[in-house]
Amino acid sequence: MSNDFLKDFEGIVDSGSRDEFLLRQLDPAAIPSHIAIIMDGNGRWAARRSLPRVAGHRAGAESVRATVEAAARLGIRYLTLYAFSTENWKRPRLEVEALMALLIEFIRKEVATLKENNIRFQTIGRDERLDSVVMREIDRARRETAACTGLQLNVALNYSGRCEIVEACRRLVTEALVRNQNPEDITEHDIERNLFTAGLPDPDLLIRTSGEMRVSNFLLWQIAYSEIYVTEKLWPDFRRADLFEAIIDFQKRDRRYGDIKPAKTEPLVANMK
Ligand code: IPE
Ligand code: IPE
Ligand code: MG
Repeated sequence: MSNDFLKDFEGIVDSGSRDEFLLRQLDPAAIPSHIAIIMDGNGRWAARRSLPRVAGHRAGAESVRATVEAAARLGIRYLTLYAFSTENWKRPRLEVEALMALLIEFIRKEVATLKENNIRFQTIGRDERLDSVVMREIDRARRETAACTGLQLNVALNYSGRCEIVEACRRLVTEALVRNQNPEDITEHDIERNLFTAGLPDPDLLIRTSGEMRVSNFLLWQIAYSEIYVTEKLWPDFRRADLFEAIIDFQKRDRRYGDIKPAKTEPLVANMK
């Protein structure tokens, strides 16, 4: 066994499999601490099979399960999954309802497993407009996993990067007025601490499935220096091997943060906070 990951995936990854081949290539010393994923392509996956779009969303739930499990075993600290954007409310009512129902079903089925695996469930996004049943399940999952210290799973739900920044600005302006503060005193850290992701490191790696080369209003502030990886795979086809491939690719990148040599230490942006 060449690295500990093979032990962490013992009984799950078959000897001689592609999973094992990829695991061997991973450098345990350079595992990203935060991975964010734009889970896209469920509708196209279904269309290719002449199935309704909802079938694609349902199949996508299995990819979520597989990805969360693999991320936890790899020792990734934060995994942020884009599940529903504020723009997704534009979709047909039945599709939105089906997505919310799938979320409820996912939480009900998985919360015990999350807890068993020391995975903390969180959401980012605005609570308003979310159905009370959805909110109840989310609150329960948050509560039940609050003491977990392993992987933190952030589900971006009713999320918009621009709204998040606008809200942070509103809070800062209010604060500045109350404290009679000078606008010059507002720092990057002040914005950061007013985002849904306050206290979390920025994503090291942003993955988008289905080949689309855009960020669709996801974590606009936080991805300033994230490495972007786009795969043609549609989200319902995404499995742990795809996560391994993305990380292997990430580990080949030079992160320079504007400097001329690869960073060996913490990102410059973090140092500036
Ligand atoms: C991603 O798949 C899931 C959500 C946005 C909720 P899509 O539903 O966007 O699938 P495509 O992009 O139409 O294939
Ligand atoms: C981004 O996918 C949002 C989620 C994955 C939840 P979309 O399918 O909504 O994005 P666009 O419309 O292709 O930009
Ligand atoms: Mg899409």
